Amino acid sequence: MARAAALDNFFCRLAPRLGERLRDLAADPVAAAALARDASHAPEGVADAHVLPQTTAEVSAVAAAAQEFGVALVPRGAGTGKAGGCIPAAGQVVVDLSQMRSLLQLRPADQLAVVQPGLITAALDEAAGEAGLMYPPDPASWATSSLGGNIATNAGGPRAVKYGVTQRYVWGLEVVLAGGEVLRTGRQCQKGVAGLAMAPLFVGSEGTLGLITEATLHLVPSPRGVQTAWLGFDDPAAASLAGSRIFAAGLLPRMLELLDAPALQALHEVHGQASWPMPSTPTALLVETDADDPQAARAQMQRLCEVARPLACRLAAHADEAEAMRGARRQVSQALKKLFPQKISDDIAVPRSRMPELLAQAQRLATAAGLSASAYGHMGDGNLHVNLLCADAAQRHAAADVRLQLYRWAVGVGGTVSGEHGLGLTKRCAIDIEFDPVSLLWQRRIKSLFDPQNIMNPGKSYAI
Ligand code: LAC
Ligand code: ZN
Repeated sequence: MARAAALDNFFCRLAPRLGERLRDLAADPVAAAALARDASHAPEGVADAHVLPQTTAEVSAVAAAAQEFGVALVPRGAGTGKAGGCIPAAGQVVVDLSQMRSLLQLRPADQLAVVQPGLITAALDEAAGEAGLMYPPDPASWATSSLGGNIATNAGGPRAVKYGVTQRYVWGLEVVLAGGEVLRTGRQCQKGVAGLAMAPLFVGSEGTLGLITEATLHLVPSPRGVQTAWLGFDDPAAASLAGSRIFAAGLLPRMLELLDAPALQALHEVHGQASWPMPSTPTALLVETDADDPQAARAQMQRLCEVARPLACRLAAHADEAEAMRGARRQVSQALKKLFPQKISDDIAVPRSRMPELLAQAQRLATAAGLSASAYGHMGDGNLHVNLLCADAAQRHAAADVRLQLYRWAVGVGGTVSGEHGLGLTKRCAIDIEFDPVSLLWQRRIKSLFDPQNIMNPGKSYAI
């Protein structure tokens, strides 16, 4: 089929400048299929065109041509998103920022790094580590996810319970706006109160306001003492009560992650049990404490275990064992997906004290709808990955209703429909549950200020 005229004009304008880095995907169905999906359960989109800029000036030229010819842009990093935020529709252009992946500056004395959006998250943490620093946000996909996508979704991860999510670490941004203007906002220091705080507006905006081309990120000293442990419990209710006791005792572990029976079973089935050093109990908590002094991290863990009163406990004896425990936790989503390719996953968050009720609600609603479920994730943040383990279309249909009921309950107790993945496409059904009309109106007004022609990732998250 012939390309739409708008896209044709876009190609004519940019092809001389970008050469093979501007691709019409009609001739490459394999690449088109790969660019039409992410790591979510959203249906595959349609990828017609793909552009791979290498500089901010090129991104700016892309945004200028897009506005001139009325072509919508869909930013893409590593494609690890869990909500369909980077899935394109027909006639849109995928702006792939993966080639802009340099670590531009690492300044230990200022505790900051300046990065391009395509830099892999774990690569920044590793580089920071060599300077005795740490980049705390650690989404499960951090070995493959990129920082631009983390910023666009305000990604979290297990360490968020102590260190917070991406927003806390974004000091400054360079963003290419619709039409090609380059906005630099924020600063390279800890403090800064001049004018409106615009950088935070772009964090979590899921590409709806502009294209992030550079970020100044705060790094923190890497604690020298880290103690990891695997605690066993009878069931998620017992584990969540232990979690409540831990916080009530004034402790703040840097990880408090829940793995329920289906999650543990999926790990065993997919990865085998041979090298599994952790105690076998129906439910587990992965916990980690840290401090400047290894002795202090161990003492914190000891206190935590006294308060948590697990059925069984395994303290990681060395760094490899700790990494095996963390690695197992990171693989839960993929292991469940292998066994239940049609599963639907969420990332509801509620006030910590409501976690026992969230677990009970999820189980009750899933059972009533005839669905099996797994609930795992960031218990310390009140942020649970409720996975509805659907086997077919009928079950997916039933799951839609369960999700809406859970969303309403979570928002009703002061929580949110998305603690860390964003709304993208998969949670647009929850917009009216999360936002009242005034809030939604102002979000859309802000978007139209930055993007009057609605070409920046239209139809995603809160955007029309
Ligand atoms: C995790 C992803 C799904 O925590 O957020 O495993
Ligand atoms: Zn998660």
